[in-house]
Amino acid sequence: MQRIFLGAIVVVIAITAGVTGAKNISSKYIFSEIAPTQPINFSHKIHAGDNKIACQFCHIYARRSKVSGVPPVQRCMGCHKVERVDSPEIKKLTSYWINKKPIPWIKVYDVADYIYFPHNRHIKAGLRCQECHGPVETMAKVRKENELVMGWCLECHRNREFTGPDGIKRSGPKWDCWDCHI
Ligand code: HEC
Ligand code: HEC
Ligand code: HEC
Ligand code: HEC
Ligand code: HEC
Repeated sequence: MQRIFLGAIVVVIAITAGVTGAKNISSKYIFSEIAPTQPINFSHKIHAGDNKIACQFCHIYARRSKVSGVPPVQRCMGCHKVERVDSPEIKKLTSYWINKKPIPWIKVYDVADYIYFPHNRHIKAGLRCQECHGPVETMAKVRKENELVMGWCLECHRNREFTGPDGIKRSGPKWDCWDCHI
C-alpha cells in the first residue's frame, strides 16, 4: 500500500515537473469541442452577453457555497412569463414550470469525486468566473474550457496568493495534497 502511494507521488512529481517546465501550458488543458446538447436551447450569449445579465443573478450560490449550481426554473420564469412566450423553446420551459419539474440540464464541468473543490473560496479570493470557465458570455452553448486535471489546479495555485488557516495571505506553492484530496 505504502509503495503504491510512494509510486503515485513519484508520478505526481514527474507530472508537476513537466508542468513547471513548460511555458505555454494552459493551452494543453483547453477542450473546446465539448458542448452537450441541453434539454432547452439556453444561450449564455443571449443572456449574459447581449442582455448583460450578471452571472450571479442566476448562479446565486457561487460565492456562498461549495457548488455554484444551476438556476431553478422559477428564476427563468421571472422573465419568460412575458418574454418570448411564443417561442417553442420557451413553451418547453413553461411546461417544466407548470409540471413543477426541474430541467434535466447536462453537466459540463464535473471534477473527480475524490476531489474537494470549494467554489466559494475561489470567488471570495477575487477570481473571475472566466478565469476557469472561459468567455461564457460569448457561448451559445457552454463548452468545457479546461479539463479539470491536477496540473490545471496546481498551475494556478502555484502562482497565486492564498489565505492560510491562520488568516494570513501567502503566495507560492504551499498546497498540501490533502487540501484537495479527500
Ligand atoms: C432577466 C431576464 C431573463 C431571465 C432571468 C431569463 N431569460 Fe431567457 N431570455 C431573455 C431575453 C431578453 C431573451 C432574448 C429575447 C430576444 O432576443 O428576442 C431570452 C431568450 C431566451 C431563449 C431563446 C428564445 C427563442 O427561441 O428565441 C431561451 C430558450 C431562453 N431565454 C431560456 C431561458 C432559461 C432556460 C432561463 C433560466 C435559466 C432564462 N431564459 C432566464 C430574458 C431572460
Ligand atoms: C439567465 C441565467 C443565467 C446567467 C445570467 C448565467 N448562467 Fe450560466 N447557466 C445557466 C443555465 C440554465 C445553465 C445550464 C445549462 C447550460 O449548461 O447551458 C448554466 C450553465 C453554466 C455553466 C456550466 C455548468 C455545468 O454544467 O458544469 C457554467 C460554467 C456557467 N453557466 C457559467 C456562467 C457564467 C460565467 C456566467 C456569466 C458570464 C453565467 N453562467 C450566466 C444560467 C445562467
Ligand atoms: C478556480 C476556478 C473556478 C472559478 C473561478 C469558477 N469556477 Fe465554476 N467550476 C469550477 C470547477 C472546478 C467546477 C466543477 C466542480 C465540481 O464538479 O464539483 C465548476 C463548476 C461550475 C458549475 C456547475 C455546477 C456546480 O456547481 O458544480 C457552474 C454553474 C459554475 N461552475 C459557475 C461558475 C460561476 C458563475 C463562476 C463565477 C461566479 C465560477 N463558476 C467560477 C471552477 C471554477
Ligand atoms: C485560476 C486559479 C485557480 C485554479 C484554476 C484553481 N484554484 Fe483552487 N484556489 C485558488 C486560490 C487563489 C485559492 C485561495 C483562496 C483563499 O485565499 O482563500 C484557492 C483555494 C483552494 C482551496 C482551499 C484550500 C484551503 O486552504 O482550504 C482548495 C481546496 C482548492 N483551491 C482546490 C482547487 C482544485 C481541486 C482545483 C482544480 C479542480 C483548483 N483549486 C483550481 C486558485 C485556483
Ligand atoms: C490543487 C488541488 C490538488 C492538490 C494540491 C493535489 N492534487 Fe492530486 N489531483 C487533483 C485533481 C483535480 C485530480 C483529478 C485528476 C483527474 O480527474 O484527471 C488529482 C489526481 C491525483 C492522482 C490520480 C492520478 C491522476 O493524475 O489522475 C494522484 C495519484 C494524485 N492526484 C496525487 C496527489 C499528491 C501525492 C498530491 C500532493 C503532492 C496531490 N495529488 C495534490 C488535485 C490536486
